[in-house]
Amino acid sequence: MAITVTVNGTIQTLDVEPEMPLLWALRETLGLTGTKYGCGISACGACTVHLDGRPVRSCVLPVSAANGKSVTTIEGLAQAGTLHKVQQAWLAHQVPQCGYCQSGLIMAAAALLEKTPNPTDDEIDEGLTNICRCGTFARVRAAIHAAAQNEGAGS
Ligand code: FES
Ligand code: FES
Repeated sequence: MAITVTVNGTIQTLDVEPEMPLLWALRETLGLTGTKYGCGISACGACTVHLDGRPVRSCVLPVSAANGKSVTTIEGLAQAGTLHKVQQAWLAHQVPQCGYCQSGLIMAAAALLEKTPNPTDDEIDEGLTNICRCGTFARVRAAIHAAAQNEGAGS
């Protein structure tokens, strides 16, 4: 079945099984390996991408659910050579340790700020259910607060 998805602004026609997880289509078919496979059961958030602007866990979402829709991955978050404000804050606060979970966290944080531009710690904890085995959560929170104050940079 041909699935048509706009990925990071480019229309892609994928000849794949409709039940293939979106994560596989992104990583294996399109070579976008910035999105990570962690648990495969919607628990860890490493595979988070945006589907029409909403955060989704691509390891459990069939690619058919993205047919006709728009997907943004970590590779597409920066715009016109400018890092997204979340990416800038991540750098400033040196958030990552091993880094494995971080693209999912960044995508989840970017989506949270779209919905809740200046979240409290509680709203961050509720909005980000991603799991980081390195325990970067304190720096994640600090970086999200910094990104919330940096409205001018990125979008
Ligand atoms: S790999 Fe998708 S939630 Fe863990
Ligand atoms: S930085 Fe290592 S799992 Fe999060």
